Amino acid sequence: MSSEKKQLILNAFAMHSPSHLNPGLFRYPSDQGAQYKDIKTWIALAQKLEAAKFHAIFFADVLGGYDVYKGPSNLDPTIPSSAQFPINDPLYSVPAMAAATDSISFGITASTTYDAPYAMARRFSTVDHLSNGRIGWNIVTSYLDSAARNFGLNTQVEHDERYRIADEYLDVTYKLWEGSWRDDAVTWTKQPASSNAAADVAGKGYADPKLVRQINHNGKYFQVPGPHLCEPSPQRTPFLLQAGTSSAGKAFAAKHAEAVFVHAQKPELARPSVDSVRQQAADLGRNPQDIKVIAGALVIVAETDEAAQAKFDELKKYGDEEGALALFGGWTGYDLSTYADDQDFRFVEQPAVRSMVNHWASTVPGGEGKKWNKRTIAEYLVLGGNGVKIIGSVQSVADEMERWVSVGDIDGFNLSYATLPDTFDETITLLLPELRRRGLFWEDYAVKGGTMRENMYGQKGLNRLPESHAGAKFTWKAGEELPKYQEKN
Ligand SMILES: Cc1cc2nc3c(=O)[nH]c(=O)nc-3n(C[C@H](O)[C@H](O)[C@H](O)COP(=O)(O)O)c2cc1C
Repeated sequence: MSSEKKQLILNAFAMHSPSHLNPGLFRYPSDQGAQYKDIKTWIALAQKLEAAKFHAIFFADVLGGYDVYKGPSNLDPTIPSSAQFPINDPLYSVPAMAAATDSISFGITASTTYDAPYAMARRFSTVDHLSNGRIGWNIVTSYLDSAARNFGLNTQVEHDERYRIADEYLDVTYKLWEGSWRDDAVTWTKQPASSNAAADVAGKGYADPKLVRQINHNGKYFQVPGPHLCEPSPQRTPFLLQAGTSSAGKAFAAKHAEAVFVHAQKPELARPSVDSVRQQAADLGRNPQDIKVIAGALVIVAETDEAAQAKFDELKKYGDEEGALALFGGWTGYDLSTYADDQDFRFVEQPAVRSMVNHWASTVPGGEGKKWNKRTIAEYLVLGGNGVKIIGSVQSVADEMERWVSVGDIDGFNLSYATLPDTFDETITLLLPELRRRGLFWEDYAVKGGTMRENMYGQKGLNRLPESHAGAKFTWKAGEELPKYQEKN
């Protein structure tokens, strides 16, 4: 086994909904999507994935329905297919999964557009405590108009403005997490049993009030006096993930993200984005390898290429194409129902749709020779969404994953599922032994019982943001009168 190979980060990509990137698949006989309401479903999955040494379960989340297709404001195609609707809040299942496991981590999506930073910081500190530092935040700025309307807006905040808000939002949360409680603020330690206990402990405080300070954030978008409601948690700042692909999104990732999430059909196509984020991070004084790049993928693996393809074709029969078109509508804002059934979207006037579909046509295997009408788009999106689908024998899938690492310079995968938990079972039993044989996947956690940051970076003791990260300047270390950033002001 070659020890020089980059070790893959493998996460399960899930959602607290009957279907995530697989509308309709809750109808498949063995699928457990419809049991998403049962905490035991998630505990069992977390235990299974931990036994296989997955790094994390990563939960996507949205704050509105996919109501663009056949819209406006129409959920009729969405509801029967359960296309990411209904959807529960993923954060609540984390403490239960954490209590049943030791080392697997949990990435949770939460939006900087709709949630107040003071409350968000508290929620993440709470779960960081309860999971012993195994929580990550997938920072999103959100994309659904339906969410905007439910949060009292007529339409979404303009795209780049959302990222400007997010940037200040992160400053607020860094101040709360890193700079509101000095590292040694909590002074209480369990006292030895004593015959004179009350006298022994009289006057001993829980924490030192001089070491808990207001942050007094007074910015363009947020006014937050603080102090942070929670005492310092193992990681302080949760491990930070981000999934924006625009210029503003990449600039934000270069500054804040410790892991970025990319969707592309081919590693060659992901590479320019990966290079750009790493270069921008380096320009900010960060180590470009401190940004872990994770590609979204659906892996269908079987004994042979033919058997894997047959399995994929069989699963696809359960896919709900109306649901897939509803997802497309939410992701892009375009309602394909306004076009004729035989309209080939490679030649449609709408430039955004035309370029997206041409991109698929030229990159999806077998895509060039097809007419890309509604049906083709739905068939393409119905399993695995817009992520790459890697379908084949153990050898073929492992080869392709290696190619993503060498050509795309990625660090790992967020593996979505066609059916829950079968897709993961097959990955665990068939694929992981081969990845391990090739020296591509660890035998065990780098830090058993460690924090998410320790295991994502593979470095024991790295619980806090690396020194070169933008959030690190807000830390308030033992012995410092004030946090560093305050001294400079
Ligand atoms: C692979 C991927 C996964 C995403 N997952 C979510 C999600 O779970 N919830 C969400 O609200 N937005 C999600 N987003 C949206 C982004 O976080 C971002 O808000 C949106 O893409 C707009 O930013 P952009 O133009 O920079 O891409 C995802 C985006 C990508 C590319």
